Amino acid sequence: MKKDFYWGTATSAHQIEGAWLEDGKGLNIWDTFSHTPGKITNNDHSEVACDHYHLFEQDIALMKTLGVNSYRFSIAWSRILPNGKGEVNPAGIDFYNRLIDGCLAVGITPFVTLYHWDLPLTLQMENDGWLGQVTVDAFTEYAQVCFDAFGDRVKHWITFNENWCTAVLGNGIGIFAPGRKSEDEPYVVAHNLLLAHGQAVQVFRKGNYPGQIGIANNCDWREPLTDTAEDREAAEKALVYFFGWLTDPVFFGDYPQIMREELGDRLPTFTPEQSAMLKGSTDFIGLNHYSTHYASKEKPLQNLTGAEEGNGGMMTDQNIYLSHSPDWPRTSMGWFVVPWGFRNMLNWIKARYGDCPIFVTENGCSVAADNKEEAVNDEFRADFITQYTHAMVQAVEEDGVNVHGYFCWSLMDNFEWCRGYNMRFGIVYCDFDSQERSPKTSYFRYSDIIKKHQNAIDKA
Ligand code: NOJ
Repeated sequence: MKKDFYWGTATSAHQIEGAWLEDGKGLNIWDTFSHTPGKITNNDHSEVACDHYHLFEQDIALMKTLGVNSYRFSIAWSRILPNGKGEVNPAGIDFYNRLIDGCLAVGITPFVTLYHWDLPLTLQMENDGWLGQVTVDAFTEYAQVCFDAFGDRVKHWITFNENWCTAVLGNGIGIFAPGRKSEDEPYVVAHNLLLAHGQAVQVFRKGNYPGQIGIANNCDWREPLTDTAEDREAAEKALVYFFGWLTDPVFFGDYPQIMREELGDRLPTFTPEQSAMLKGSTDFIGLNHYSTHYASKEKPLQNLTGAEEGNGGMMTDQNIYLSHSPDWPRTSMGWFVVPWGFRNMLNWIKARYGDCPIFVTENGCSVAADNKEEAVNDEFRADFITQYTHAMVQAVEEDGVNVHGYFCWSLMDNFEWCRGYNMRFGIVYCDFDSQERSPKTSYFRYSDIIKKHQNAIDKA
């Protein structure tokens, strides 16, 4: 791996910061969603979470010892603009200044995500959130405030995290905030998120802020169940509906042809100006990758693979089937551990989008534990990281995929959205009562992996 490769960890504001009503922060849609009984496992919420708002210096020290050279975090929009637009909250700016300066002081490069799902509540209540243009324009305003405040030190910006989740889980299935259920709105929401991305990138480029800006989309790998043309087509289609839907527009200025043909009027259209604005509007591809499924045209036999549907988004619109091998290990989220799927995913991105730099903006796994001792002995996660980073290195060194960074999700256990604190993704254990942090086996393994690559470079 190259010397300037970014090895990092990732978090997001709402999952770790806490301080939900402190220093002028406004409410966001996850604050209210998680205070609605029944929406989150154990009715957990994120009032305190990892209390990172107060303990961030300790968390930076943990990263320093880990040996990462980069940290991906997100800014809480409602900490900066409590109502989503209008008045700026100086205490919010101040917090992120201290966080950014703290990272830079120890040689950690900040990768900043502007939107990791915590939409200011006012925009949802008054303007229908991502269903309306007001939110698109408010995001542009917010992005500019951040570029102005932090752009002298932040050189890597990510506009949006996993728009697929906002569209499908938040506005289609309704298991994420704002909790809407609809068959058509996900396409409208995704459209507006893309336009907001385009507008923010326009502001960034016209303002001549230094550095790079891009988008982070999620995608699991889809392997054809059999080698038939039908199954190969099914797998390709599943990838296009998952990743192409939200990535093609920022490369080519429009949605994938097959979605246009199949969805007709349900898929909004871009005006020629919007299309031109979106085309080429990402300096890099951020990939969040976690798992793999088989895809097939016909429903697979139960006893063959354990047939299942779901986890693919707008499944009825795709008209394909997903399944898995009984031999694949599963994480406590139920996600399949298939490192070669990661390598294939990276190769698919290269084939579709060319040599555009890729950052693996998230990769990791949840491991169940009943107590701290069990949690810190996470051989399963340590092996996961070893195998997945190995698959990535193969994609880079043997297949020539242009990967520039890898961010392990997550630095520490945190608020896992509708699964609350029940799902632990951290390489550092967090005791949510005492706020004590304890590095896990995976923390030391990841540290060794980074060192190994650095030593190889030093010797060469
Ligand atoms: C994707 C999301 O970006 C992150 O917030 C979440 O915690 C992880 N995946 C794990 O589900």
